Amino acid sequence: MAEFALPKNSRPQAGKVWQAEGGAKKPKRFRIYRHEPEDGTNPRIDTFELDLEQTGPMVLDALIKIKAEIDPSLTFRRSCREGICGSCSMNIGGENTLACTKAIEDFEGDVAIYPLPHMQVVKDLVVDLNQAWAQYESIEPWLQAYTPSPEKEREQSPEERERLDGLYECILCFCCTTACPSYWWNGEKFLGPAALLQSYRWLADSRDEATQHRLDNLEDPYRLYRCHTIMNCAQTCPKGLNPAKAIQETKKLIVERKI
Ligand code: SF4
Ligand code: SF4
Ligand code: FES
Repeated sequence: MAEFALPKNSRPQAGKVWQAEGGAKKPKRFRIYRHEPEDGTNPRIDTFELDLEQTGPMVLDALIKIKAEIDPSLTFRRSCREGICGSCSMNIGGENTLACTKAIEDFEGDVAIYPLPHMQVVKDLVVDLNQAWAQYESIEPWLQAYTPSPEKEREQSPEERERLDGLYECILCFCCTTACPSYWWNGEKFLGPAALLQSYRWLADSRDEATQHRLDNLEDPYRLYRCHTIMNCAQTCPKGLNPAKAIQETKKLIVERKI
């Protein structure tokens, strides 16, 4: 389980409590972080009790039901409901994960739902990811090739294609980046595991010809080297990826080009 830290602007107090209607067959409580920084009020934890007989199986189903039937002001991101878009990342039961693929039945007691840790909260479960997206942009996440383009596509052998497995599946949910202690303390300078895994995705691509330019861009004391192999990133990734390994492989490429 990823180490847990509260969002940056948080000191939650007990908030409102909604009880399920009488006769609920499978009552379950969801304790949800609420905060609207523009109000100037303190964060609070609201408690919503739902009847699981009337609720879909995933944590996102519960959030959607609460928003639709109890409190329309509850704010969270979501889109695909299939674990593909990366929008619904949040901290559930102390672990950064996707609300749409996290089953409610995985939790014995109350389900605690917080925003991704150590980030500025925009509202409730929505955090400001502008910096993380700018860092992703800085690794130039597109194919760069200087040789003339072949008539059809640039081909890869099956082995070359296999090198992208474990990398291309990243959905940029930033569960890893926001679980990384090095990113908590040096987030403005260290690129964080999501951007670095994505960076290695292009370094590992046989069709890309910008390897030296990409490595030049990473070789400084912070952007890559603040990773201390703490491994929170690999433990928390909801897609089962290993950003720490991608970071190690990138460091190896930098060492190899100096030999
Ligand atoms: S590596 Fe995993 S946790 Fe990190 S952004 Fe990609 S999918 Fe999300
Ligand atoms: S292995 Fe590196 S990137 Fe992953 S959590 Fe630890 S310090 Fe962060
Ligand atoms: S809603 Fe798209 S990953 Fe959860």
